[in-house]
Amino acid sequence: MRKIRILPSILAADFSDLGADVRAVVEAGGDLVHVDIMDGHFVPNISFGPDVVKAIRKSTDAPFDTHLMIAPADPYLEAFARAGSDIITVHAEAGPHLHRSLQTIRALGKKAGVSLNPGTSETAIECVMDMVDLVLVMSVNPGFGGQSFIPSALDKIRRVKAMIAGRDIALEVDGGVTAANAGEVAAAGADYLVAGSAAFKGGRAQYAANIAAIRTAAESAIGVLV
Ligand code: DX5
Ligand code: ZN
Repeated sequence: MRKIRILPSILAADFSDLGADVRAVVEAGGDLVHVDIMDGHFVPNISFGPDVVKAIRKSTDAPFDTHLMIAPADPYLEAFARAGSDIITVHAEAGPHLHRSLQTIRALGKKAGVSLNPGTSETAIECVMDMVDLVLVMSVNPGFGGQSFIPSALDKIRRVKAMIAGRDIALEVDGGVTAANAGEVAAAGADYLVAGSAAFKGGRAQYAANIAAIRTAAESAIGVLV
């Protein structure tokens, strides 16, 4: 049976107390920490860089899933690897040398991910499927938390699932995932569910209930006994 993993996106965390919030959301049931890096160029927003990732790395042993929404990405891969990322995901749209970026991530000893914007066909990654450990289907246009899930992402998830064809590649979905749509998302084939606002809403006392609601919805939809 497929295992569902919930990845709180710390873009929605309390930046004034980030280390403690990262620890709290993992203790509340987050499986991996989704770390959103934005450069104000590839996406119209800026988040934080490798020094912040390194600082919060001390707060938990949970794996760090670093989502690079930056272009170019290649000059910064080593810094994010050294900062303690376990998975590093680059966007297929971020530059002309996706193959090289993925080679570099694996050469740094990290798992390699590739992400697709809502407007990019999955055919863009056909030639690199044997070089990735994770495919990230964006279900919003990247740049901001709190946006609504774009329904056409569901068909793309199904198509990417077919392309994975049983290989050991995680299928991650990011953007507007909530307990209300986690079932559809999981049923379409996703196993890594990123949740920003839906995980962090209501403050620390709510994190565990928020994450449990997303997990239960996803697992019920794919028939995991809960
Ligand atoms: C969007 C980011 C997401 C975002 C998700 O550009 O990549 O990871 O934080 O936030 P929600 O779950 O609120 O859409
Ligand atoms: Zn993200």
